[in-house]
Amino acid sequence: MRAALLDEVDGPFEIRDVPEPVVDGKVLVRVRAAGINFADVLVRRGRYPQMPELPAILGSEIAGELEDGTRVMAITSGAGGYAEKVAVDRAQVVPLPDHASFAEGASFLLTFLTAHIPLTRQARVRPGSVVLVYAAAGGVGSAAIQVARTLGARVIAAVGSAEKLDVCRSLGAEEAFVYDELPEDIGADVVLDPVGGDLFASSFARLRPLGTVIAIGSAAGAWPQIEPARLVGRNVGLAGFYLGRLLRLDPELVGEAVGELLGLWHTGALKPLVGAELPLEEIEQAHALVESRQSVGKVVLLP
Ligand SMILES: NC(=O)c1ccc[n+]([C@@H]2O[C@H](COP(=O)([O-])OP(=O)(O)OC[C@H]3O[C@@H](n4cnc5c(N)ncnc54)[C@H](OP(=O)(O)O)[C@@H]3O)[C@@H](O)[C@H]2O)c1
Repeated sequence: MRAALLDEVDGPFEIRDVPEPVVDGKVLVRVRAAGINFADVLVRRGRYPQMPELPAILGSEIAGELEDGTRVMAITSGAGGYAEKVAVDRAQVVPLPDHASFAEGASFLLTFLTAHIPLTRQARVRPGSVVLVYAAAGGVGSAAIQVARTLGARVIAAVGSAEKLDVCRSLGAEEAFVYDELPEDIGADVVLDPVGGDLFASSFARLRPLGTVIAIGSAAGAWPQIEPARLVGRNVGLAGFYLGRLLRLDPELVGEAVGELLGLWHTGALKPLVGAELPLEEIEQAHALVESRQSVGKVVLLP
């Protein structure tokens, strides 16, 4: 089968013929679409905390077909999605709704779970709550705007460039700003932060009392230290979320959240935003779109 391999940190992806994956109690999926996640960019650059052994086939989120033609989507623990076939744990296989394309299926589970679980289990989002979302036009961000709207929140979106503002508004954000123009006095109940770095540090001043910052990712660089005294003094909280570990430690909770999300997708309240679809051969261009911050929604490879 054809697959995109990463041989070394900072190296190019190379399309090669490799043996089919060993099934070994798993389910073999013919991959029709593989979502690129920012974690894949970090792995390629050697910046991911849990680096895989290289050479490796990256890609943690796919949609495709089982051998009997059943349409499915899955999170592929251990990656392997940037290939024609991948072996997936049976428990991770979720039916792809009839109304969904393969590209949408490869843009759904990881991003929407990463938005939905923190907003429903770690923070108290109620009708009228103000939810501030960073990188709001991206994969997790575009999902977070939609999930927060399903909870009745007022969503304020923040992004890195002005071209992304309209996408955020079209997804349901009431207001959208580039980071430099984001007001201080937003009074957010929740800040959902996939960006990290200085933006993360500035978030606490944008919370109203009893608000929470949820740290999801550090696309812009490591998180600065936060003193508990600062949290106590401001009556605010900090939560962290990492789906990979939750999948291992509490698969039942994740399964419950998948069920909720499928229900919301079915009603039309949610819809994955597919920003670009490229053949596997164009993986360099696809990764460049995400890494250069030009992508909106999800960039999807079609093996
Ligand atoms: N904790 C978890 O379980 C989990 C799960 C999935 C993803 N994540 C994390 O969530 C974040 C978003 O993931 P995603 O796959 O949906 O990616 P994405 O949001 O589609 O792309 C990353 C976005 O981060 C923003 N960004 C800010 N500073 C950046 C920088 N210096 N370099 C590159 N991008 C920068 C860019 O948006 P702007 O230009 O608008 O700033 C960019 O579009 C990542 O940090 C990822 O690692 C965490």
